[in-house]
Amino acid sequence: MKVITIYHNKGGVGKTTVAVNLAAALRRQRQRVLLIDIDSQANTTFAVGLMKFFSEEDDTLRDANILHILKDEYSIREVVRRSDSFNDPEIDVIPAHIDLVDIDVAEELRGIDLIHTSLLKKLQEARDNYDLVIIDAPPALDTYAQIALIASDYLMIPSDFRPFANQGLKYVKAFVDFINQEFSGIRAKFGKNQLQIVGVLPSKIHGRTCNSLGFRNLQEKIANKYDLRIMETIIKENADLAHSLHRVVTIDGDEIPEPQSIFKYDRNSDSARQFKNLAEELIWLTMK
Ligand SMILES: Nc1ncnc2c1ncn2[C@@H]1O[C@H](COP(=O)(O)OP(=O)(O)OP(=O)(O)O)[C@@H](O)[C@H]1O
Ligand SMILES: [Mg+2]
Repeated sequence: MKVITIYHNKGGVGKTTVAVNLAAALRRQRQRVLLIDIDSQANTTFAVGLMKFFSEEDDTLRDANILHILKDEYSIREVVRRSDSFNDPEIDVIPAHIDLVDIDVAEELRGIDLIHTSLLKKLQEARDNYDLVIIDAPPALDTYAQIALIASDYLMIPSDFRPFANQGLKYVKAFVDFINQEFSGIRAKFGKNQLQIVGVLPSKIHGRTCNSLGFRNLQEKIANKYDLRIMETIIKENADLAHSLHRVVTIDGDEIPEPQSIFKYDRNSDSARQFKNLAEELIWLTMK
């Protein structure tokens, strides 16, 4: 089982869009995939069709979500849901919840001795059930991002290659160094080697930009400056990627969210091809 966190401290670079469609692509290759949302925004949870309720009273996620894993109350098996009308085949998902930002919850988590390794431990217990685990992390240097990286073998960094996303790479690298220094002992006990950066994934890149000499030069410059691999696959900007995750259907006058993976939405689209390529590139880079 390989665990891959999708993370960048820069927000809005496409982490969630990549996490859910990458998981969908891997699942279509019949990989046993677990998708974990550890971001209080719960965008991944929404995107895989697990938030079709409208009122707090109907919230079906509050009683079993990532927090119950972190608090050591439930196992992965007890919290996992199946994505809903999102992809063929559907995907196992550990949902997030807005309670992740509750100050009392934060206080409670601070009081738990092994909170940083709670997810690592739970995933180890479930390692025979999955080939690949994809974690969507928040755009922050917070405890949740740390927990995700401590539980991971690899980090993939989506980036739109804009100035702050580029400058942020040095902080991502420092974060990885911190995890490898501070947690290598405990990670080793769980059979984990050093956390590796699998690469920077060009994401939300305008079609015309992709083929320009300027963009190729920029990629080379960033690769050299930050000593990072830039992934071959490029996830281009495509309105369908946004539409597919914000789809609604109208039933009895109510608009019900019905998000779909790009494969279900339009499996012949360029974006579907890009995510298929990304899944293959990721497998190649992590299995060799
Ligand atoms: N390749 C793409 N083409 C077009 N729109 C995209 C693409 N990727 C993401 N978007 C859109 O950009 C916005 C941000 O994307 P997304 O939520 O995936 O980013 P994120 O990095 O997860 O954000 P956050 O940091 O808030 O978690 C969304 O509206 C999404 O639909
Ligand atoms: Mg996100």
